[in-house]
Amino acid sequence: MTAEELLAQAEEVAQRAYAPYSNYFVGAAVLARDGRVFAAANVENAAYPLGICAERAAIAKAASEGVRPGELEAIAITASPCGGCRQWLHEWRFDTVHFRRGDGSVATCAPGELLPETWDLPGE
Ligand code: THU
Repeated sequence: MTAEELLAQAEEVAQRAYAPYSNYFVGAAVLARDGRVFAAANVENAAYPLGICAERAAIAKAASEGVRPGELEAIAITASPCGGCRQWLHEWRFDTVHFRRGDGSVATCAPGELLPETWDLPGE
């Protein structure tokens, strides 16, 4: 699957974001190594910090279907991932992260480029 094909799925699900507070609609689509795609949008809450980003929602969807870290190949996001989501991208050991920049171009990188000097739980 190409970056643009995965991004198209992220863009489609972004339309279903629940973002009445920020009005900022984000979508993410993750591609598992077995070919399955899990897509999700951001879901906000009136208690603002309780909202969930699209990336974490998509990873949670995959995890709930039994997918484990190392089994996700790529993620496409309609926006640059926030700092917290970068830690999730690290934990789930994606090979590749694609995201749409503000100017419309597509960035493709490894999680380590987005979050250098990563933190891991001691002993893990
Ligand atoms: N958001 C995401 O879904 N992913 C990101 O990486 C950046 C931020 C959402 C969270 C919130 O619903 C809205 O964008 C504004 O911050």
